[in-house]
Amino acid sequence: MLTVKNLKKSFGGLQALRGVNVTLPDQAILGIIGMNGSGKTTLLNCINGIYIPDEGDIVLDGARLDGHPIHKVAGMGVGRTFQVPRVFQHLTLLDNMDVAQVASKAERDERYALSEYWLDKVALMRLRHNYAEELSGGQQKLLELARIMAAKPKVILLDEPFAGVNPELAQMLIGIIRDIPTQHGCAVILVSHDLTSIYQLSHHIIVMNEGAILTEGDAATVKSDPAVIEAYLGA
Ligand SMILES: Nc1ncnc2c1ncn2[C@@H]1O[C@H](COP(=O)(O)OP(=O)(O)OP(=O)(O)O)[C@@H](O)[C@H]1O
Ligand SMILES: [Mg+2]
Repeated sequence: MLTVKNLKKSFGGLQALRGVNVTLPDQAILGIIGMNGSGKTTLLNCINGIYIPDEGDIVLDGARLDGHPIHKVAGMGVGRTFQVPRVFQHLTLLDNMDVAQVASKAERDERYALSEYWLDKVALMRLRHNYAEELSGGQQKLLELARIMAAKPKVILLDEPFAGVNPELAQMLIGIIRDIPTQHGCAVILVSHDLTSIYQLSHHIIVMNEGAILTEGDAATVKSDPAVIEAYLGA
């Protein structure tokens, strides 16, 4: 269980997060939507240790995450993908996958099997000996997801996983994300502008606006909320 309490983060005079509260139960998928610049990525950056929040606390299974550097937070079970994917360009896909398992005590064969399992899931097996730099942007996003899953995280933070991924792969990705909580015991925070995918996948949805939560609830609640309709479509 991940909880975020009263999280605040400013950049100079700009309040990017104005006291955000989030509860993510085990095996849940939490969707986060909101206009450009509403603070979604900043929230993820605070959770995984890229930013130190000004106020508030972030707790995963009873342990404080805030204040720890990014690698420590990763070691505590938080995986993260980025709006612009960050993979090791000059390593092969298999080596990218192996790096993710650096903390694993598993034997080489076992690590290799896990790498292949995830590369197969994201349809990149045939490219396993290629360098990551040879992949398209969409494929790099898939590799990034495979890589963070190989570290067996407790929670993953996905920032725009569908952006730049073609519709067929996006459909495959939806299926993979949907199964992650039940099949891999991992909770998911999903930030996306793709409302259809968010509505399909999320058990709970948060709508952000100017660094605060505008409204939250299940898909039906959020879809019919006048404040959301106004924020997205204009009055
Ligand atoms: N490192 C930074 N320095 C200064 N301002 C920042 C920094 N990171 C984010 N901001 C500002 O904080 C606000 C929230 O940005 P954030 O990236 O969290 O938005 P977002 O909801 O992810 O938007 P998008 O949908 O476009 O990805 C924006 O006004 C942004 O310019
Ligand atoms: Mg963002």
